[in-house]
Amino acid sequence: MGVVRSFLALPLPAAVRDEVDARLADQRGRRPDLRWVPADRWHLTLAFLGDVPEPVLASLQPRVERVCARNPPMRLRLEAAGRFDQRVLWLGVGGDRLRLGRLAASISAAGDRVGIPREPGRYRPHLTVARARGSVDLAAAVARLSDDAGSWFVADEVTLYASRLGASVEHTALKTWRLTGSVPTPA
Ligand code: 2AM
Repeated sequence: MGVVRSFLALPLPAAVRDEVDARLADQRGRRPDLRWVPADRWHLTLAFLGDVPEPVLASLQPRVERVCARNPPMRLRLEAAGRFDQRVLWLGVGGDRLRLGRLAASISAAGDRVGIPREPGRYRPHLTVARARGSVDLAAAVARLSDDAGSWFVADEVTLYASRLGASVEHTALKTWRLTGSVPTPA
């Protein structure tokens, strides 16, 4: 029986990817000491699952499908940068953060029910763009990426990815579900 290192995430639309790529170009040149995540690997993580036995991953999928059928698409945009300690440089997420938080919580709860332990700590939506090789000062990079916000986009699908570690990390989309829950109309 195999195990799959996996996570669930919102993929980024190609137009957003291109926009962020352009926004980061200058920073990449200034900071060759950081390990920049290639654009084709960008995503907004909803839940990291870790090493999951294949049968457990199979039993999770109908649950994620039900979560996606209940949750509506979200209007999001990438905003100011931030960092986790001096290790991870990210862009923050603005817009329907309440819906995004609910979706992430329901996805984690679905994992919990099939025996996948939840990640400890509060859910903090972000797009990781670079990781430090050691502990370096990320404050200047954060400051330089903090003055603009990206275009709005609609996130309307959730993807289950396998993540293979090796000389380079490889992400493979295993399955995608559309968010088809209805948006409540204001009273
Ligand atoms: P990220 O969300 O900051 O990019 C696959 O490793 C994805 O799951 C990455 O995008 C990663 O970080 C996210 N992730 C969340 N918690 C993780 C953990 N404990 N270990 C590895 N990756 C984790």
